[in-house]
Amino acid sequence: MILKATNVSIRYGAHCALDGFSLGFSPAEIVALIGPNGSGKSTALHALAGLTRPEVGEVVLDGREMRQWKRRNLAKRLSFLPQAPYAPDDMSVEQLVRQGRFAHLGPFQGFRSEDRMAVQWALESTGLEELADRGLKELSGGERQRAWIAAALAQESGILILDEPTSFLDIGHQVEILELISRLSRERGVTVVIAIHDLNHAMAIADRIALLSAGRLVFEGSPAALSTTGLLETTFNVKGKFIRSDAADAPYLQIRVQR
Ligand SMILES: Nc1ncnc2c1ncn2[C@@H]1O[C@H](COP(=O)(O)OP(=O)(O)OP(=O)(O)O)[C@@H](O)[C@H]1O
Ligand SMILES: [Mg+2]
Repeated sequence: MILKATNVSIRYGAHCALDGFSLGFSPAEIVALIGPNGSGKSTALHALAGLTRPEVGEVVLDGREMRQWKRRNLAKRLSFLPQAPYAPDDMSVEQLVRQGRFAHLGPFQGFRSEDRMAVQWALESTGLEELADRGLKELSGGERQRAWIAAALAQESGILILDEPTSFLDIGHQVEILELISRLSRERGVTVVIAIHDLNHAMAIADRIALLSAGRLVFEGSPAALSTTGLLETTFNVKGKFIRSDAADAPYLQIRVQR
């Protein structure tokens, strides 16, 4: 395990947002974190990214407790894309993506060719080359989301933590990002932890699914194993059935909408 949360609990005042959360991640693994609104996904990702220090429990990265990591070293090892990231309005796409390189630059050191290549690769991978000079405020919601994904990619870290990175994307761009994530894991050995609302996308992309309900991890295992538990239906309070046309395919949950 390169990243591991053990018995992490996080409270906001009296409210326990995450309760005894334990989950570990191996190299090149893709883990989807799913759960209803308010179930603790973002809270868990913040803890895994070292941005929230749990009062109870610990998060260990490469054998060292999170609080021992310096920010710059952490950013080389792990990139985190929050659910609602903030950047100044007057920043351009390329400026945002270049920020992803900050951890790689030495003091008083400018951009080297490897930094430029990483930025170029990130822009190409997200289909943003044409929009590189555009201001962030002049983008559509989906374009802006891709710019943020590009900034996380430019960091070229071994662990990518993404909080609902496809929520504003049309279906074509959603699939493009999911395939990109899959390629990163296969070809570069990147470990991906992704919070995602589309259950079928989660099951299509993930080696392992972690299901949160009211701050507790209620399932952890393969998409196929999840499909036999009935937990998706009860946790999300929906009626549906799993369809599996081919044994090689991920299970697909068809939701029934009453009308
Ligand atoms: N800063 C905060 N202060 C107080 N309560 C918070 C804060 N952030 C989150 N919460 C609460 O903690 C719980 C978990 O929130 P979290 O953002 O982790 O949920 P989530 O699973 O990511 O939901 P969503 O699917 O809506 O993104 C929620 O009940 C939320 O209202
Ligand atoms: Mg969230």
